[in-house]
Amino acid sequence: MHILITGAAGMIGRKLAARLVGEGALSGRPIDRLTLLDISAPPAPEAAAFRVGAVAADIADAQAARAAVAGRPDVIFHLAAVVSGEAELDFDKGVRVNVDGSRALLEAVRAAGDYRPRFVFASSLAVFGAPFPEAIPDDFALTPLTSYGTQKAMVELLLADYSRRGFLDGVGIRLPSIVVRPGRPNQAASGFFSAIIREPLAGREAVLPVDDGVLHWHASPRAAVGFLLHAAGLTREQIGPRINLVMPGVCCTVAEQIAALRRIAGDKVAGRIRREPDPLTARIVAGWPSRFDPRRALALGFKAETSFDEIIRVHIEDELGGQIAS
Ligand SMILES: NC(=O)c1ccc[n+]([C@@H]2O[C@H](COP(=O)([O-])OP(=O)(O)OC[C@H]3O[C@@H](n4cnc5c(N)ncnc54)[C@H](O)[C@@H]3O)[C@@H](O)[C@H]2O)c1
Repeated sequence: MHILITGAAGMIGRKLAARLVGEGALSGRPIDRLTLLDISAPPAPEAAAFRVGAVAADIADAQAARAAVAGRPDVIFHLAAVVSGEAELDFDKGVRVNVDGSRALLEAVRAAGDYRPRFVFASSLAVFGAPFPEAIPDDFALTPLTSYGTQKAMVELLLADYSRRGFLDGVGIRLPSIVVRPGRPNQAASGFFSAIIREPLAGREAVLPVDDGVLHWHASPRAAVGFLLHAAGLTREQIGPRINLVMPGVCCTVAEQIAALRRIAGDKVAGRIRREPDPLTARIVAGWPSRFDPRRALALGFKAETSFDEIIRVHIEDELGGQIAS
């Protein structure tokens, strides 16, 4: 089986590639080729038992998109994106990468003819906008309140239509905010949800830009990779006509996040969080939904953590080798 990952140098893409290399198979089928694409060549995971290609390409360039699918990957994980904060600050870039880039890739698949890969799209809960019901189901109206959410919603619609018409075999997964994000902060407006856990655990101060009553929906990077892999293996019949699914996660407030950090790492670590309100972040986050009803995804076998403590422990195990700074 041949697999393509776009956005493969990103946080989730790197972890997905490493997991595929480690397992050597997807949905019970052995992998013989993995193509990793990003705007600059992504690092190839070591010790792969099959061919791994790293491609530097702009997904919004139609020719590059066609070249990316020329090897007819059986499964495409489309993760390349400009994330929420940047898409809000730079409208042109957001539209170009998130809409035009996705469309270029969808069109490249269609143009290849007689080719119907499983196309897993990393969507977002930002496709929904306030006011919200108590718990948001998959089929709640898409009324995004950010450019990023609007761009993701547009691609969800295209993906559904391309699937309906048989141009490809799509599934969109609406990821929760993935925490704890390792490495350097990116420009996602949700970045602070990770920073307030990651930085204190590493002995550094972190800034909290919103009120600690903010409620949000989270899953770990390990769970995100699990969602993508699971989505790749579902049958068309299981997915049905509503192909964009809300993923499961943990719903908690920032205060509950901090309490979990304190339980696991102690007062000194939790004391490294500094409150510094930021109106742009607060405004973006205020329009985000917080509580979901992921019953379809759960019935389809998607799995996430069940507490924020578990999410912090995953980070300590996967990123810190079990060690935390005192
Ligand atoms: N991390 C989260 O909390 C979260 C939540 C919801 C949805 N998502 C979605 O999941 C996907 C992966 O998220 P992530 O956290 O790994 O993001 P990330 O920012 O770490 O990675 C995105 C990657 O896309 C690449 N990219 C940007 N423009 C490109 C272009 N023109 N051509 C090729 N590559 C390009 C970037 O270089 C980057 O490596 C994204 O689509 C994101 O919108 C993430």
